[in-house]
Amino acid sequence: MSNISNKLQQHNQLPDSLFIRSCSDQNNSVLPGIRCSPPLALAPMVGLSHSALRILILEIGGVGLFFSEMLSVARLPIENEIVSPLLCRTPAETPFFYQIFTGPDQDIVPAVERLHLLNAQGIDLNLGCPAPVLRKQGAGSFMPSEGVQKTVAALRAATHLPISAKIRLGRELNEDKLISFCKMLVDEGIDLLTVHGRLQGEKFCRRARWDWIGKVKSAVHIPVIANGGIFSVDDARKCLEQSGADGLMLGRGAVCKPWLFADIAKSLYKYNVSTKIQVKDVYFRFTELLQERFLPERRLGRLKQFTHYYAGNFTFGHHLAAKVQNSKTLKEAVEAAADFFVSSPYH
Ligand SMILES: Cc1cc2nc3c(=O)[nH]c(=O)nc-3n(C[C@H](O)[C@H](O)[C@H](O)COP(=O)(O)O)c2cc1C
Repeated sequence: MSNISNKLQQHNQLPDSLFIRSCSDQNNSVLPGIRCSPPLALAPMVGLSHSALRILILEIGGVGLFFSEMLSVARLPIENEIVSPLLCRTPAETPFFYQIFTGPDQDIVPAVERLHLLNAQGIDLNLGCPAPVLRKQGAGSFMPSEGVQKTVAALRAATHLPISAKIRLGRELNEDKLISFCKMLVDEGIDLLTVHGRLQGEKFCRRARWDWIGKVKSAVHIPVIANGGIFSVDDARKCLEQSGADGLMLGRGAVCKPWLFADIAKSLYKYNVSTKIQVKDVYFRFTELLQERFLPERRLGRLKQFTHYYAGNFTFGHHLAAKVQNSKTLKEAVEAAADFFVSSPYH
């Protein structure tokens, strides 16, 4: 019997929240831990996981946990949280894990102190990102195993907050290596693991291996969140079936359909959220939020990046993406989008 069927049988439905506790709080005396209700997280995504998208998704409903886009440990102490699109955040955007990336020899303490001041509920270490910009520093997926061990130990020593790591499945499919890597993370004090079900070099078009996330879930005693290739309620259900994970993380699917959290929360976790939305209204609300949250020069680039994914909702969405891409101002982009919505029904 699959893990999800087991859980359904025992509880009559899936557990509707996920509790994350810091292992540095053994006596349960300092920190209450955090509850993610429902156990659905917005993925860290450069240029996309920012305050405007988070508020949009909160307004629609169904999200239980946020991750920032990856933040450089070197830059964090000098970043201005009032104007920086990377850091600006409202109190409603919670629970919130800031994601950091670092090379193995960087001092992480100043960055962690900054995150404490920013009222982080948790800190996530990026160990999966294969972006070339991280190669030079030996960060993300380029960090050697000894460096990872040292960095996680330093992070554990620097904070009582829950700490998490986001990983891929490894450089090649090797169950022993994957499990011993994950156990090392847990031994060093990681409280939550997010597993993106692809190998390091694999492109996003390749199917995510949700069953391999299940191998991690079976081997560790901490919560595991499954990530990769969830674009519908059906994907979410299958991913939970195959992985037995404690929660799901949505990336591109949530940008294309900011209401996907609500759909999944309602269908799988029996949350009472309305899933009646107007696709064009969601887009215009997003443009308003960009204006409320960011300085003028920070808005258009983020709208273009969002539209690249949002256009996937329409048969001729590439026309929308091209019109917005070619716009010189936010006003021009919004007008182009309005024209497009009149002529193109949502499919
Ligand atoms: C534009 C973009 C930016 C991303 N930035 C990050 C990042 O900052 N940190 C990270 O750990 N993963 C990053 N990712 C990977 C996502 O968090 C996620 O693992 C990946 O998109 C697979 O999930 P999905 O299929 O739901 O999109 C990024 C992905 C995209 C598409």
